[in-house]
Amino acid sequence: MSNHLLHDLVRRLRANVRDDTPDLTDSVLRVPASSYLDPAQWEREIGEIFLKKPMLVALSCDIPEPGDYMSFSLAGRPILIVRGDDGLARTFFNICRHRAAQVATEFSGNARRFTCPYHSWSYDRQGRLAGVPGRAQFGEIEAEGLTELPAEERAGAIFAVLTPGAELDLDAWLDGMADALAALRLDTLHPYRKTSVLQSPNWKLTADGYLDGYHLPYLHKDSIGGKILSNGHAYDLFGPHVRLSMATRRIEEIDSVAEEDWYLPDYLSLVHFVFPNVSISAAHGGTAMLSRLLPGPSVGESTTIQHQYFRQPLDEEGMRAAEEKRLAYEKVVLEEDYATVFGIGASLEALGEAPILYGRNELGNQHLHRVVQEMTGANRRLKLKPRRG
Ligand code: FES
Ligand SMILES: [Fe+2]
Repeated sequence: MSNHLLHDLVRRLRANVRDDTPDLTDSVLRVPASSYLDPAQWEREIGEIFLKKPMLVALSCDIPEPGDYMSFSLAGRPILIVRGDDGLARTFFNICRHRAAQVATEFSGNARRFTCPYHSWSYDRQGRLAGVPGRAQFGEIEAEGLTELPAEERAGAIFAVLTPGAELDLDAWLDGMADALAALRLDTLHPYRKTSVLQSPNWKLTADGYLDGYHLPYLHKDSIGGKILSNGHAYDLFGPHVRLSMATRRIEEIDSVAEEDWYLPDYLSLVHFVFPNVSISAAHGGTAMLSRLLPGPSVGESTTIQHQYFRQPLDEEGMRAAEEKRLAYEKVVLEEDYATVFGIGASLEALGEAPILYGRNELGNQHLHRVVQEMTGANRRLKLKPRRG
């Protein structure tokens, strides 16, 4: 997306603020509380969405050099994302072809070879089997290497499907989201390697917070929400993905500032929600925070990993600033967002079949729930009740 289109977005936010209305859906949405509690529904979400659809597994800048890698478990699948000597980013099951030990044991790093800690079978950066101690004892080894997953790099991000041999049509999946992500120039970011790892409740409850512009000036009034206006949000839907744009208190300045002098981060704040589980909060041309939601072993649990990115490589002072920023966000997310969503999680059982309400202004949240329900066939089972607002 060019600057020109971002300027259009700023003008759209300004008009919303002037008219005192965010973008709206046609109707209010009621979602039964059981949608967050039902283990069978959660199993369908894992099976139909997390294991079948393309997942954003890393940013290109997380693994810029050959041998750079990341490894973590997503929806019960241990994965290893590594850049090969040929510059290609590949995604594998992080599962040794001998007896299934996890080959990479660190979250991230650089390796010439991946050597399994159990019996030292080793794999090269392209995932090929490179060494087997006592090879003669194994006869003909059929496995050529680590199991590779369909993966592709686009707009500064790496996407993979967690099922070997599955089809990956990234154009169809991303829709216009590729252009929206490209505008963030994610490939020019520099990661701060220390992440925040936070316990979080049900993945959809947690995701709801990242798609929700409505709560910022209220729940976060004394922290990160103070500069955001509540009445101007704009939402763009790209397939299942959402871009949430929020106007800041300074947006009125555009009425008197020449367009060539606009500094966009003064006027808008952007959240790109890459369905189903990645939120990228990034000012155009500024720093970025990526939050990755990893569903836990049961319906009520997930883990969030938050990554901070900067425009410049981090020197010593940059590292100090990065650590300060990481801790500040961790505090806000734990004490404000997650304290609240854990509270919701603890209340849902009491609601039974009574619904949770999503207003016409909660467009991103409505989209998430409609998409999940459509992909899992739950709209028939859960009897979603839209109502004209
Ligand atoms: S399980 Fe990996 S070498 Fe044995
Ligand atoms: Fe929040």
